[in-house]
Formats: sequence, C-alpha cells, structure tokens
Amino acid sequence: MTAPARDGFGHDTTADEVLAGIDLSGKLALVTGGSSGLGAETARALAARGARIVITARNLDKGEAVAREIRAATGADVVEVDELELGSTASIRAFADRFLGKHDALHILVNNAGVMACPFERTADGFELQFGANHLGHFLLTNLLAPALLAGAPARVVSVSSRGHRMSPVVFDDILFERRPYHKWLAYGQSKTANVLFAVELERRLGARGVHAYALHPGGIVTELQRHLSQEDIDELIRNAPGGDLRLKSIPAGAATSVYAATAPELEGRGGLYLEDCAVAERNEEEGMTSGVRSYALDPDAAQRLWSASEELLGQRFPL
Ligand SMILES: NC(=O)c1ccc[n+]([C@@H]2O[C@H](COP(=O)([O-])OP(=O)(O)OC[C@H]3O[C@@H](n4cnc5c(N)ncnc54)[C@H](OP(=O)(O)O)[C@@H]3O)[C@@H](O)[C@H]2O)c1
Repeated sequence: MTAPARDGFGHDTTADEVLAGIDLSGKLALVTGGSSGLGAETARALAARGARIVITARNLDKGEAVAREIRAATGADVVEVDELELGSTASIRAFADRFLGKHDALHILVNNAGVMACPFERTADGFELQFGANHLGHFLLTNLLAPALLAGAPARVVSVSSRGHRMSPVVFDDILFERRPYHKWLAYGQSKTANVLFAVELERRLGARGVHAYALHPGGIVTELQRHLSQEDIDELIRNAPGGDLRLKSIPAGAATSVYAATAPELEGRGGLYLEDCAVAERNEEEGMTSGVRSYALDPDAAQRLWSASEELLGQRFPL
C-alpha cells in the first residue's frame, strides 16, 4: 500500500543507502532517544554524512557510550549528548534552555524516543505515560525549539510513529484513561496516532515558513522497545501480523525511513506526510496491523483539535 519508492528503496533499504551522496555538513541534527535502537543508528548515519549531532538520553552514561561508538565509527567529533526525560516537562524545559543557549539554528529534529505497551504509569506531570512521553513531551520540545527550527529553515521535523497507530485514534473524550480502563495497546496506538496528527498540524503551521513535518513507521525491529512485552504478547503480535509474518527489519533498515524523512530531496517543500519503507504510504482503512495509514491519523480537524488539547493539558499556548 505504498507509493512507488525512489530507485528501488523499500523494506530492506538501510540508512546508509538512503544517505548515499547526501552531504549534511553544516547541518545540525537533534535525535531524541539516541541512547538505544533506532535513535542511535539514525544519529550515526546522519553523523557519517557530516551532520553535527545532539542526541538526548535519560541516562547520560548510556548516551555517552553511544556517542563514543558514533565517533569511533564515523570519525565525527561533533556528537553531543544531553539529558532529556520526556516524562517531565521540567526536564524538557531545562533541556530546551540549554539547547537554545548553545545553538541558534536547528535543521533536523528527529522525535524518535518512545515507550511501548508499558503498564499504567503517570509522567511527573500526571499524564498517562505513553501519551505523555511519546506525544506531549515531543509536542512541548518541538514548540520550545521552534525558534531554532525557523532560524534553520529549510528544516525538518520527523516524528517516529508506528504501524501501531492503527490500533487507536486519539480518544479526545478520555485521552488520559481517566474514565476508561487502561489498555496498554490502545494507549500506545493513541500516542502513535498523535505523532502523525502532530506532523499534520505542524506542517500546516510552519510549512510555508520552510519547516516541514513528517511521521513514519520504521518497520518491525528487535530493540529495547519490546522491554515490556511478555512471550504471550509477542505470540499475539505474530498472530495479528499479515500472513503471520512480522517481516522484521535490521536496525540499519529500521533507521532508513527516519533519515529518508529527514533528508530526501524529493520530499522538499512538502510535508504532513506519513511514510513507511522510505516512501509515502497510502491510506488503508482495513482493520488490523497491515501497511498504510488510517485516515483518522491524517484528519486535519483532529490534528487541530489535538494541538489545542495538548496546549490545554500543558497549560501553555503555542501560537506558531
Ligand atoms: N522497534 C520497532 O519495531 C518499532 C516499531 C514501530 C515504531 N517504533 C518507534 O521507534 C522509536 C524508537 O524505538 P526503538 O525501537 O529504537 O526503541 P528503544 O531501543 O527502546 O529506544 C527508545 C529510546 O527512547 C528513549 N526513551 C524511552 N522513554 C523515554 C522517556 N520517557 N524520556 C526520554 N527518552 C525516552 C529510550 O531511552 P533509554 O535508552 O533510557 O531506555 C531510548 O533511547 C519509538 O518511538 C518507537 O515507538 C519502533
């Protein structure tokens, strides 16, 4: 269900293959959740093409270990690590202050960090954790960094969503699971739909000023993301996959669609798109964990409503 990809790009294309021939010298890229999995590989691949990189980590030692590996693999000496806990608005504000104190312009923001299917938990500010960290945290971060993105235009904001968005729209009547029983997959699905809607509304607000926004499904990749899953959960994921096959990707292939969204020349000047396998995905309203994007995730009215609801929850307006 995807539109034709560039030069045979597809499921197994790696981040290095996407970036071949692309020069990122002079560009600054910020990757959240760079301490593990897809974020670490996204940062490495962008650094290998000359970008200066800031990765965020909850655990600075873990982030520094990734930064050392990136420096060793690429020869790049321009990899910074800074602390960011997306489940705390105080941490996000402190990070943004430090970032803006050091950097005037930001060219690529990859909102990659995420938590999946965890037991019910609240963020430091009392929000259900998956919506709070995956969506609200990145919403606040991006808004705080908007002056640097506008100064860096043309700039791109990449939201790492998931095929999991197919499991739930944003349930505006009870976003934080205050009146319905908590369901770890519906909460993940809702947060990942919010990632797509955020890209739609951010594009509407900033696209004309040269900041374009994208959301994507990276593929199914074995990383620390599965840390909360039991064997039973994994068996169920396999049963629900089309043809009973998860079609897993390697980590280098899992980071490919993120760097494609961040750099592909053919995406220049447009955004508000949902990508998978290094191409723009088509709409697909089928039930189940198949490819394509559900229309509720691209709905411009829901995207505006989510922006307002997010402002209300955070108690701050962001009139970009
Ligand atoms: N892997 C897949 O199959 C898959 C499929 C679809 C979508 N995705 C999406 O891809 C993104 C990256 O996932 P991954 O597979 O690379 O998983 P991962 O290896 O678990 O990496 C997630 C990253 O996010 C960070 N993180 C988690 N919660 C955070 C919080 N509250 N505040 C700040 N940082 C936080 C983690 O920090 P720590 O290192 O401290 O844990 C880690 O750096 C996620 O958004 C995920 O939803 C992945």
